[in-house]
Amino acid sequence: MSRSAAVKMSGLLMRQLRGEFSFSPRGGLVQVCHWSSMASGTTKEEEKTHQPPHTLVGETGDKAKTKAIVSYWGVDPPKISNQDGTPWRWNCFRPWETYSADTSIDVKKHHLPTNFMDKFAYWTVQTLKYPTYLFFQRRHMCHAMLLETVAAVPGMVGGMLLHCKSLRRFEQSGGWIKALLEEAENERMHLMTFIELSNPKWYERALVFAVQGVFFNAYFLAYLASPKLAHRIVGYLEEEAVNSYTEFLIDIEKGEFENLPAPAIAIDYWRLPADSTLKDVVTVIRADEAHHRDLNHFASDIQCQGHELKEFAAPIGYH
Ligand SMILES: [Fe+2]
Ligand SMILES: [Fe+2]
Repeated sequence: MSRSAAVKMSGLLMRQLRGEFSFSPRGGLVQVCHWSSMASGTTKEEEKTHQPPHTLVGETGDKAKTKAIVSYWGVDPPKISNQDGTPWRWNCFRPWETYSADTSIDVKKHHLPTNFMDKFAYWTVQTLKYPTYLFFQRRHMCHAMLLETVAAVPGMVGGMLLHCKSLRRFEQSGGWIKALLEEAENERMHLMTFIELSNPKWYERALVFAVQGVFFNAYFLAYLASPKLAHRIVGYLEEEAVNSYTEFLIDIEKGEFENLPAPAIAIDYWRLPADSTLKDVVTVIRADEAHHRDLNHFASDIQCQGHELKEFAAPIGYH
């Protein structure tokens, strides 16, 4: 096939793949346009993330060159609109990835540690918890932000290792790869939300850097050695995340922490009303943590009872 024919074909394919419709955050079908000038009133962060991907840095005025690049690759990124015709503001997530959190989930559920492995997992988390509480005390925003940088690691590590196992053994995973990657993405969105409300200092960034280096490797080795222990540890970590968000909510209710307006990213991601506040955001994040808690304890239970994860369908599609 000639090069020009291949380019034409890839263009046609991309036009098929990119979809001719999309969803509004409230669930309805909406129109899809193509990149055009963005509506005024976007934040600095939104402007940064809404550069048309085919525009090269430093060449924004060179329309001919930009067009040539689009033509060459046959990719014309779609612009997704809300139901009212305003442009979808985010490149980091799309309307069909948004959801309403299940805030009716039991936030007090606790897995009683009965055997040695459970007790080891429980006390590992308790041992890690106390220095963290001493360090942050009631600086909830900072605590939440740094907690999320850690919480987003296990899902990615577990998902990656299950992915490799699936390839090695030529077998499916029962949806667990997807479930764990979904969890990692969800945790990262918690972080993206808190970063809109807080500006970490240099030593906090340095702490994240160091903690990630240690935690990623420790969790990787733990998951290789015993996935059921690794999932149990995460189950208890998530229980503590639920508890710390409950304390955050109590302090907001008492007026000890300002109930700021919810950031735009949170309103769109969790389909919250436009006048939502930090309290609403922390409430939906706590519900997410409770879901992660249940998912990880479930994954550990499956393996503790002598089964493989793939034998039981993973709870995907929570979002
Ligand atoms: Fe989280
Ligand atoms: Fe979580």
